[in-house]
Amino acid sequence: MNIRTDAITELILKAAHEAREETANIPAAERIPRVNWPVECTVGPGLEGAIASETRVGFVNGARGELSYCGYDIFDLCAYSSFEEVSYLLLYGKLPTVKQLDTYKAKLIKDRPLPHTLRLLMGFPVEEMHPMAALRLGTNLMRHRLTWHDSDAGRPSPDQAIGADEDSIPMETAPKGEQKAIYEFKSTKKTRPPNAPQGTEDAAGLRACIHLIAGLPTIAAAIERIRDHHLPIEPDPELGHAANFLYMMTGTRPTTEEERIMDIALILHADHGMNASTFASMVVASTLSDVYFSIGAGIAALSGPLHGGANEEVLKMLESIGGPENVETWFEKTMRKKKKIMGMGHRVYKTYDPRARILAPLAAHLAKNHPAAAPLFRTATQLETLVVATLGKEKQIFPNVDFYSGIVYKCLGIPPHMFTPVFAVSRVSGWTARVLEYLKKNRIFRPRAIYVGDFGKEYTPIEGRAKKVKQTTT
Ligand code: ACO
Repeated sequence: MNIRTDAITELILKAAHEAREETANIPAAERIPRVNWPVECTVGPGLEGAIASETRVGFVNGARGELSYCGYDIFDLCAYSSFEEVSYLLLYGKLPTVKQLDTYKAKLIKDRPLPHTLRLLMGFPVEEMHPMAALRLGTNLMRHRLTWHDSDAGRPSPDQAIGADEDSIPMETAPKGEQKAIYEFKSTKKTRPPNAPQGTEDAAGLRACIHLIAGLPTIAAAIERIRDHHLPIEPDPELGHAANFLYMMTGTRPTTEEERIMDIALILHADHGMNASTFASMVVASTLSDVYFSIGAGIAALSGPLHGGANEEVLKMLESIGGPENVETWFEKTMRKKKKIMGMGHRVYKTYDPRARILAPLAAHLAKNHPAAAPLFRTATQLETLVVATLGKEKQIFPNVDFYSGIVYKCLGIPPHMFTPVFAVSRVSGWTARVLEYLKKNRIFRPRAIYVGDFGKEYTPIEGRAKKVKQTTT
C-alpha cells in the first residue's frame, strides 16, 4: 500500500523510537469517557481550555508530544500508511479494506480534474492574489457543482455567465435609467433533474467532502502554474494523491522518494485537534451553511502567520539570518526585541511537536543533496539548539510542525508562497472529517463575551458632538 522507500521508513521509526524513549516518564493522558453536558472547564482568553464538542477524529497529548488520528499513532501512520488511507480513516473513522480503499481512490481520481472550476478561476487575477486567497476563491467556485439549492433559487449557472473580465464589461458612466442591466447572466432557469443531489444536504455531505479533498490539490497546483504564467496541468489518473499534487504543481513527475516525502507531509498535516482553522470550519458548518463555505473559512483562518502562515515565515526568517554563524547574534537581538521566533512554540505542545520530530530528519535527508537548502538546515538546527536550551527550559517552547516543513518543501521544488496552500491541501481532510462528525449532533456555536463597556450613555446628535468633546477635554 505504501510506496516502498525503506530509508525514509527507517528515519521515521528512529524518530518514533527516540520520541517514545524521551517521553516514557510523562504520564499518559487521562481519558474522559463521555462528556456530560453542560460541562465544567476552565476557559482562558482565546477560548483556551474551552470544551466545544466530543470527537473521535483525532487526539493531541501536548504534554507527551503525541498525536493520533482515530486512535492510530502519527509515527505509525507516517511509517506505514498513505494520505489516501489516512483521509479515508478520518472521514469514515476506520482503516479501509483493499476494496474500500480502491473505491475511495477511484472517487478521488474522478473528482480530481476540475476544468470547469479552473476555467472560472482563470477569469480572476490569480497571479496578483495571495495563493491562499485564490485557493479560497477556488473552493467557492467548486461549490457550484453540487449546490442545486442555488439553482433552485433561480440563480444562473456560471456556465452561462458572460466572462467577468472587468475591462470587457461596458459600464454606463452616467446612468440613463436603462430598463435592463448591460452586464447580465443569461439565465435559463434550470429545473432540477429527478436524480439530482439534494440541495444543501448534498453540499454538506460526504460527497462534497471527497470532492474537496480531491479538488484542493488541483486548484492549489493550478494557482502556482497560473502565477508562473503557465497553463494548469491535468491530473494523471495513474499517479497517487501526493505524486499528482507535485506533478500538477511543478510539471515534473516526482521520484519515488519525493512522492513518499510529500505523502508523509500530507499525512502529518491532516488533522490537529480544535485548532483555529478547524474551529472556523466547524463554526460555519454549525449554521447549516455548507461544506464549501466551511472549508473556505478554514482556509481563511489557516492563512494567518500565527497559524498555517508560519511555515512561509520560517523560511524567510532562516534566509534572513544569513547562515549558522549568525544564529547566536540574531537570537540575542530577537530576544531583546521580544519578538517571536517563527516555527517555535505551540498552544498545546509543551514539548517537541511529534510532526517536527518527523520533518526534521526528512529535511536533513533532502538538504544533504540540495546546495541551497543545506545552509538553511544548518541554520535551523543551530537555532533549534539555542531555543530549546533557553526558551524550552523557561517557557516550554520547542519546534512546531512549521519549523522544518519549509525546508522539506523547498527541496521538493515548492516555492514559499505555496507552503500554506500545501498545508490546506492536507488539512482539508481533517476539516471535512470534523465538520461531518459535528453535524451529526449539530448545535450552532454561540460563546459569550463579557461586556466591559459603559451603560446608559446619553445620545448626542452629531452637530453637538465636537462641542461636547471640546468641553470634556478642556
Ligand atoms: N518565540 C519566542 N517566544 C515565544 C514564542 C516564540 N515562537 N511563542 C511563545 N513565546 C512566548 C511569548 O512571548 C510568551 O512569553 P511571556 O509569557 O513572557 O509573555 C509566552 O511564550 C506565551 O506565548 P503565547 O503567545 O501567549 O502562547 P500561545 O499559546 O498563545 O501561542 C503560538 C502559541 C501562537 C503558536 C505562539 O507560540 C507563536 O506565536 N509561535 C510563533 C508562530 C508559529 O510558529 N505558529 C505556528 C503554530 S503551529 C500551527 O499553527 C500549525
